[in-house]
Amino acid sequence: MSLRALVNGYGFLGRRVARALASGKVPGVKLVAVARSTGYIHRPGGLTLEELEGDIASLEGFVEGSPISLLEDGKVDLLIELTPTNLPTGEPALTHIKTALSRGIDVVTANKAPIALAYRELTELSRSTGALLLFEGTVGGGIPLVSLRRFCLRGDEVLSIRGILNGTTNYILSRMHFEGLTFELALREAQNLGIAERDPTLDIEGYDTALKLLILANSVMGLNRRLEDVRITGISRVTADAVSLAKEAGLAVKLIGSVSPDGHLTVAPRLVKLNDPICVHGTLNAVTFRLRTAGDLTLIGEGAGEPTVTSILNDVWEVVTVRGRLTGARGT
Ligand SMILES: NC(=O)c1ccc[n+]([C@@H]2O[C@H](COP(=O)([O-])OP(=O)(O)OC[C@H]3O[C@@H](n4cnc5c(N)ncnc54)[C@H](OP(=O)(O)O)[C@@H]3O)[C@@H](O)[C@H]2O)c1
Repeated sequence: MSLRALVNGYGFLGRRVARALASGKVPGVKLVAVARSTGYIHRPGGLTLEELEGDIASLEGFVEGSPISLLEDGKVDLLIELTPTNLPTGEPALTHIKTALSRGIDVVTANKAPIALAYRELTELSRSTGALLLFEGTVGGGIPLVSLRRFCLRGDEVLSIRGILNGTTNYILSRMHFEGLTFELALREAQNLGIAERDPTLDIEGYDTALKLLILANSVMGLNRRLEDVRITGISRVTADAVSLAKEAGLAVKLIGSVSPDGHLTVAPRLVKLNDPICVHGTLNAVTFRLRTAGDLTLIGEGAGEPTVTSILNDVWEVVTVRGRLTGARGT
């Protein structure tokens, strides 16, 4: 029998994930519900692609209010949580995820806040009920970081992590580096292109990078750190002069998140050599894992947008595989 999935949050990612599931991209999963802020639609027999074309609020049977009753009443087996990242509470996603895990319902999410703010509590809950909690989409968009550790690096030890984890700030710093723009001009350009939010505080003040770093530190390195443990400096005070002087010296200013070998977490603008593999430009992200045996391993890719769907769907595949519902599927 197929796993019954609820996609909670029907925005940029939710729409794409829901369409992929409704079109059968992951065998063994049936999309039975989707929810947005105003309410949800529940079709026990499965939602069709046609139903997902327009506004779900205009579909017959649209229910106003929270879809949490679907979790409480055992109407779904898998929660795909894609509501907005909310600091400092992590809500409403945190409550949705706890409700699911405590009932043994598996969870896949790209929402950073609950994983960064309550990692220990959520993983303990998931262990106690046997429910899966997968969150590859929270860090590095389509770059497999958490699952790389889980599937490919079990025989090694991650000693430290260093990376560019935010595409918006990297775009701004790249434009300052290559075009000599001021911070203010580069930010305005990024906002006009839709790369930066109207309120860019979380990105430019380093909080988005800090949340992602925290997720990597706790999940990949097995630490137990909280947001208060991260020393955070953003890029709003980086001047055009500083960027230009760095460039003359063969360096670039980058917003780097790092976990040191002694477990200290820092987010700050740093000088990076142009030939360092993490010195990527534009909206790209790059992360170097320093491994005890294998040495440095750097992954580069798009850190947000459509590539994130790849990570989410891969996590969904993982749930289906672990739950033994892939029988007869191709590509396993
Ligand atoms: N977009 C990316 O590239 C990216 C990459 C990595 C991670 N993420 C994270 O993934 C999550 C989703 O991102 P997104 O870009 O898809 O966001 P989005 O486009 O802003 O969509 C958010 C969706 O959540 C819905 N929502 C808000 N509050 C809700 C609630 N209480 N219950 C149910 N639904 C609710 C919104 O409803 P309405 O439609 O009614 O407004 C909207 O459909 C966020 O946490 C984001 O930080 C995004």
